[in-house]
Amino acid sequence: MQDQYGRKIEYLRISVTDKCNFRCVYCMPEDGVEYIEHEEVMRFEEVLRVCRCAVQLGIHEIKITGGEPLVRHGVCDLIRQISAIDGIDSVTLTTNGYLLRQYLPQLKSAGVTGINVSLDTLDPQHFHQITRNDGLSEVLAGIKEAVSIGIPSVKINCVPMRGNQDDFVGVAMLAKDAPVHVRFIELMPIGMGQEFDRISQEQMIENLEARIGKLIPVQEHLGNGPAVYYKADGFLGRIGFISAISHEFCQDCNRIRMTVDGYLKLCLNYSSHINVRDYIRSGATDEELEHFLKAAIYGKPRHHGFLEKNNAEKESRKMVEIGG
Ligand code: 5AD
Ligand code: SF4
Repeated sequence: MQDQYGRKIEYLRISVTDKCNFRCVYCMPEDGVEYIEHEEVMRFEEVLRVCRCAVQLGIHEIKITGGEPLVRHGVCDLIRQISAIDGIDSVTLTTNGYLLRQYLPQLKSAGVTGINVSLDTLDPQHFHQITRNDGLSEVLAGIKEAVSIGIPSVKINCVPMRGNQDDFVGVAMLAKDAPVHVRFIELMPIGMGQEFDRISQEQMIENLEARIGKLIPVQEHLGNGPAVYYKADGFLGRIGFISAISHEFCQDCNRIRMTVDGYLKLCLNYSSHINVRDYIRSGATDEELEHFLKAAIYGKPRHHGFLEKNNAEKESRKMVEIGG
């Protein structure tokens, strides 16, 4: 369906947990966050109902996110059931990769069409500084295995941090010898992300070109997102950029989100008061639920307004509660 600005909304990101086995500095405080009560968490049958209704409105791509989605028991089964819904043609997963390797066979047989692994550095010490976890080798093994067992699309998401040029060049190199696409996500001033500096896309390109050679823009759409892609000579995978601030893509935005406690997030930077879980639990019929979703989607804000000072509706939750 189209929203009030004529954008076609076809992609739903679902956060299935606010728990995470990492503590990335731009996402979570070191001692974690207060978890949402078990009762408030969307049950899988509720998530499935939302997916079935969303399909009726033209949503055909689902992303499972967290926190870290693989820490929620039964997530592979959820993916299997979402994949089986008529009209859904892609179910992807965003993970920090720590538990990925062990779940890959299940994920593959569940029909996952793509896996995005978050990884900011290949240096074990920096990895520890950023994630407060020692699992770099597990993450790398997961990425390698995902490619070798034939997950249709494997992507790396890297949030480049200022001052650590070797880190992001190292991550970019993962696209050289394997068909994985490495995307650099511009740090967004949301939650803890407000405490760090972002690096511009232009600066990134300049730094990368100095190390891996010319980046040639390609007109490819790899998946359902706003990334722009470049090709580097001799690389099997592409290098992409998702720059929500410096290259705002709100006019092409095709997505909505649902938080672990059932809030619909129509834009990353807007707090939401629309709770689909409560609506379901109040006894809504499928038809009512579809109308509810439709009205909410229609009202999707025009743009994120990250740089606006007086955004009264500004999101105040942390990224781990939203799912990125
Ligand atoms: N800005 C941009 N990306 C972020 N992530 C977490 N916090 C931020 C932020 N403030 C990323 C993680 C992961 C994805 C789920 O969101 O690195 O790749
Ligand atoms: Fe966990 Fe991802 Fe947040 Fe890191 S960015 S703490 S991996 S949810």
